[in-house]
Amino acid sequence: MDSKIKNLNEKLTQAYLGGGQARIDKQHKSKKLTARERVDYLLDDGSFEEIGALVTHRTKDFGMENQKFYGDGVVTGYGTINGRLVYVFAQDFTVFGGSLSETHAEKICKIMDLAVKVGAPIIGLNDSGGARIQEGVRSLGGYADIFFRNVQASGVIPQISAIMGPCAGGAVYSPAMTDFTMMVEDTSYMFVTGPNVVKTVTNEEVTSEELGGASTHSTKSGVAHITSSNDVECLEDLKKLMSYIPQNNTETTPLLPFELTDEVRESLSDIIPDNANKPYDMHQVISGIIDEDSFFEIHKNYAENIIVGFARLGGRSVGIVANQPMFLAGVLDVNSSKKAARFVRFCDAFNIPLLVLEDVPGFLPGTDQEWNGIIVHGAKLLYALSEATVPRVTVITRKAYGGAYDVMNSKHIGADMNFAWPSAEIAVMGAKGAAEIIFKKEISAAEDKEAKWKEKEAEYAELFANPYSAAERGFIDEVILPKDTRRKLIKAFSMLEKKEVLRPKRKHGNIPL
Ligand code: COA
Repeated sequence: MDSKIKNLNEKLTQAYLGGGQARIDKQHKSKKLTARERVDYLLDDGSFEEIGALVTHRTKDFGMENQKFYGDGVVTGYGTINGRLVYVFAQDFTVFGGSLSETHAEKICKIMDLAVKVGAPIIGLNDSGGARIQEGVRSLGGYADIFFRNVQASGVIPQISAIMGPCAGGAVYSPAMTDFTMMVEDTSYMFVTGPNVVKTVTNEEVTSEELGGASTHSTKSGVAHITSSNDVECLEDLKKLMSYIPQNNTETTPLLPFELTDEVRESLSDIIPDNANKPYDMHQVISGIIDEDSFFEIHKNYAENIIVGFARLGGRSVGIVANQPMFLAGVLDVNSSKKAARFVRFCDAFNIPLLVLEDVPGFLPGTDQEWNGIIVHGAKLLYALSEATVPRVTVITRKAYGGAYDVMNSKHIGADMNFAWPSAEIAVMGAKGAAEIIFKKEISAAEDKEAKWKEKEAEYAELFANPYSAAERGFIDEVILPKDTRRKLIKAFSMLEKKEVLRPKRKHGNIPL
């Protein structure tokens, strides 16, 4: 028996060494942790159980039968994060550049299947040169097996991808179909075709970083939801993200123990400027409402005219969607609509209640927006909120103008509780523009046109630049003092905890894509 145990230990030692010490050193020199170090850092101490450590590839072409590494370039298994079960795969760049072979894909599929059967999140730590070139179509088949599972698991268990090295070609489509894509600055990149192909086809000169680095994807494309400055920070962010998310679509995120001691927040009374055209930072409103330091922002540097992220409110995990008057006056445009719609759909799929903070002057006008399909993209957010069955609460802090009023979680599209601050202006448009249109004749006939316009503007503002017309109709449930907002919201979400909505049977809706 001793010799057999020795034999097993030797094999496992080899497996733990991946592609060997020289390649591990190279990985460290590139400021990257190895796959095993990443898994160890991510999971609770001693909780990782590996599956498939002794798997090897089956390729015989190109002398591959003489180049075998246990694990075949991916470490797979399960463990816990803060005591909660997760499945994880980490591609090992030290073995064939983490490239995806048939067996490498089989290992990933095996734990994806387990994750769905058991109902626990799956986390992928990607660091790979793409399809295993020596395997040809077998490798492509492996990718498709993963893609198919990503789609079947979508909305059933949370799927998170951290890109911690290269991710190119077909490899990008698995992360793209997961719920959140994280990237590490300087050491990760994602693109469908690399700089060389780009140069050949379009004659553009671009570096990997410019084409698909973390900053590109977190500001320009929106492909990355979260970026971190190094591997350790990325794994810390991942753990934090997991804390807001339930295990699967039949559960809710565990409540944190909470005592109501600071429900009145006076600081909220001083945020809205007297001048309705002056911007303010909606982050101040968010932090004024939520449990201290609990905001975890998603897509922080992308489409900044809308803020989305998770927070705790009275210990409860909630998803926040908030217009940001600091950027483009908080208008809705193509990118902000897509950003918010995707976030809303994640929250709805995973039973995370939604809080919408509204200060929106409307949709962004212009040819750029129209030609890029603001009609269809704006409809995404309208659709996503209308179909959401989780508890939904809105607070209008200032402007709620035009169609954007309807879109931003209005009563009419199924919101459960709609609050407004006394500073709210709920109208078809701003008073100035409205006066210009409906009193056009009177203004142009007046001797002092400017004075007439001002008079009519004041008349319209008196009637509509407030929350009361909407409150009289019941479109607003209650006009509340800013300082009471936190208390009102904690109570509203608690009251809505057992909300249930039954929808007619259908295969799936047809969200405008
Ligand atoms: N298939 C098989 N082996 C691969 C591979 C792939 N797709 N990508 C990388 N490798 C191997 C390399 O042969 C090398 O092996 P070695 O350690 O035995 O020398 C090792 O992985 C590391 O690759 P290397 O090129 O030295 O690393 P790098 O950091 O300089 O570059 C890449 C990384 C990803 C940019 C580069 O390896 C690359 O361009 N790979 C191919 C990408 C591709 O076209 N994939 C297929 C289409 S999806």
